Amino acid sequence: MDVDDLAGLLSLPNLARDLESIEERLDASIQHGNPELVDPSLRVIHGGGKRLRPVLTLAAAVAGGGVIDDNVLQGAAALELVHVGSLVHDDIIDNAATRRGVTTINAKEGSEHAILVGDFLLSAAGRICAAISQEAAATLADAISSLCIGQSLETSTINDPSRSLDSYYRSIDGKTAALVRASCRLGAQAARVEATTTDALGEFGTAFGMAFQIVDDILDLTSTSAKLGKPAGNDLREGVYTLPLLLLFGRDETWRDSLPAAAQDEGTLAALVEQTRESGVIDDAAQIAYDHVSRAEDALGALPSSEQREGLIKLPRWYVDQTLA
Ligand code: IPE
Ligand code: IPE
Ligand code: MG
Ligand code: MG
Repeated sequence: MDVDDLAGLLSLPNLARDLESIEERLDASIQHGNPELVDPSLRVIHGGGKRLRPVLTLAAAVAGGGVIDDNVLQGAAALELVHVGSLVHDDIIDNAATRRGVTTINAKEGSEHAILVGDFLLSAAGRICAAISQEAAATLADAISSLCIGQSLETSTINDPSRSLDSYYRSIDGKTAALVRASCRLGAQAARVEATTTDALGEFGTAFGMAFQIVDDILDLTSTSAKLGKPAGNDLREGVYTLPLLLLFGRDETWRDSLPAAAQDEGTLAALVEQTRESGVIDDAAQIAYDHVSRAEDALGALPSSEQREGLIKLPRWYVDQTLA
């Protein structure tokens, strides 16, 4: 995501400057730690993430009628810290060796150490939000709690070929959409906008977050490790059956029989991926992502009109279009 493109789309002319300020805040937030915690944290923080959640925090503050002040910038940094911390933990769970194009902490320093680094990052986020307001601290805690619930739902269906669509949707709502919702809500809360506006921005974030995870799940099947900066095909390899596969099983359940082999053998995995393309379920999954995009657009309908509201409305479709192109 090019910063100039985003700044134009969202009508946030100072976006590049604000993102630089957030980088400084990320670094500052963990400096009290020891090198064993700080160095691997910095490696992942600066690995090259899209910074989508902080951008949403800034954009939500302004689209809600507020301004980007110190509290909003701090809130944006906190959201990225929760995101990075949760990725550090996620890579342990998913046995992933790369993230943002760099070696994961579980792969380099070991999983036991990665647990501590993840906790350290989450605690840095908590400290920031406690200084913004009680409300902000509660928003952050709720998001982390939802993340645990969503991830544990996923874990409980690992290697389960009868995983239901409902269970999939509940899992991604918790593990991903909740943090995107919190990114928007925290921006609004830190900028002290009205409660109804905060709720509308939260609904927008939830719907965008659902679309976002569905797109990530599609890319896991269709993209390459080099493009993603993380191991492609890993969901299937780890027994996480996501939307395209669940749609495929819904059409022809005999494909479920190839799952044990797909986890072991790259040839069977490639055949299953090819089948998701040929059968059209990738397109169906993309359509479901676009349904969530439409919901996100509708959620902002009642906000007072502004260039920034129009920009935020355009963001989910722009993101999904360019990511799936
Ligand atoms: C990855 O999020 C985790 C998911 C929720 C799919 P991002 O795709 O935003 O990761 P970065 O921050 O750009 O690395
Ligand atoms: C999102 O799910 C993980 C979190 C919300 C922490 P994934 O497991 O699909 O994320 P990636 O693909 O590893 O980034
Ligand atoms: Mg993962
Ligand atoms: Mg993924």
